[in-house]
Amino acid sequence: MSEFKPGLDGVIATDTSISYLDVDNEEIVIRGYDLIELAGAKSYPEVAYLVINGELPNHKQLTNFEKILLDDSTFPNEAYEVLKLAPKKSMVMDIIRTGISFLAGFNDESDLMNTSHESNLNKGIRLIAEVAILTANSHRILNNQNIIKPDNSKSFAENFLGMILGHKISSKEAEIFDKILICYIEHEMPNSTFAARIIGSTLSDMYGAFVGGISSLKGPLHGGANEAAIHMLLDIESKGGSKIADKYIMDKLNNKERIMGFGHRVYMKKYDPRALFLRDYIAELESNIQNGKELHKIYKIVEEVMAREKGLYPNTDYPIALLFYLLGIPIPLYTPIFFASRTSGLIAHVIEQHNNNRLFRPRVLYTGPRGLKL
Ligand code: SDX
Repeated sequence: MSEFKPGLDGVIATDTSISYLDVDNEEIVIRGYDLIELAGAKSYPEVAYLVINGELPNHKQLTNFEKILLDDSTFPNEAYEVLKLAPKKSMVMDIIRTGISFLAGFNDESDLMNTSHESNLNKGIRLIAEVAILTANSHRILNNQNIIKPDNSKSFAENFLGMILGHKISSKEAEIFDKILICYIEHEMPNSTFAARIIGSTLSDMYGAFVGGISSLKGPLHGGANEAAIHMLLDIESKGGSKIADKYIMDKLNNKERIMGFGHRVYMKKYDPRALFLRDYIAELESNIQNGKELHKIYKIVEEVMAREKGLYPNTDYPIALLFYLLGIPIPLYTPIFFASRTSGLIAHVIEQHNNNRLFRPRVLYTGPRGLKL
């Protein structure tokens, strides 16, 4: 048996052709391309197609793919009724998780449990569209707002952000939101992707893998960090702003607390390439809201203190937290949007797992007693 590695730190869990974090060369490899280059030149549907199919789409393939991403014809009206039954104090991630489980029931069992490439592809791509609808509308329903259905005359990013905000958005806002969705789309083997692959390795279905993935991503050490990060920046602002930001962080660190949006299991003491790419867009949006400039100032001070005191740098959740706030996105939707983007990566990983499966079943280092007699 191999040696015990807490948290599987540094352990290679599977082989994959989907993505790889080349930390030394500071490149996030997505099917052979550099994610940051893709984020600068492509749209979310184009990168989603690449992640799922292994190649960039031609014009016809992209048109057909986008049509499915913006199609709500398979989204049952009963699902909206389920969302309405959610207790008002539900977390949006939990409502989406419930919605995904409910949607599974609209597949015949044979289709649901069919692990063929084609069946997984069809179910998965449909789920990208359905999770976006669940994301935007679960929050709207929780807040007694009207349901908004997809507008297939728009791009995926413009439609998704429009459904979330319920009003027209500028092309600049749609462009920045699209880049954020691309930065969140796929990232090798984070906890949530691993959860999905573990579930897929029992030949369980795509919906079940998604439920595992969303449950993992909800945690503040993972996808939940973006919401925690904006709450921290707003707390600093409420307690004195940029003047007290340095002391605020020092107090937290001296109290052995974690600063959300910083550090990474793989990047460790390096800057997350996605954070480096996205931080430049903050200045373009900071005048969107009255306290935007002050929040940006606080954002920079926190970053300076973390580099100085801990040698730690932002992961992607840190700039996205402020960008989402400047876009006017409700805070409870930050992590759900992360999951909605990452559906493309999860689909690719579940398909890859099912196409060449080996059940995940690790061993343990037993530390309990032995030989006890009744
Ligand atoms: C995501 O895996 C992925 O790729 C995830 C993700 C994706 O795209 O899917 O990139 C998305 O989840 C990004 C991470 C978001 N989470 C956060 O921002 C939460 C805050 N960060 C940390 O809790 C932490 O950095 C982790 C969880 C992200 C990684 O932690 P590790 O690898 O388990 O590191 P560790 O806990 O062993 O910490 C090592 C040292 C410790 O100091 P010592 O106790 O040794 O003195 O670094 C310190 C930690 O205290 N440290 C931090 C810190 N992160 C690590 N100290 C203060 N604030 C932090 N954020």
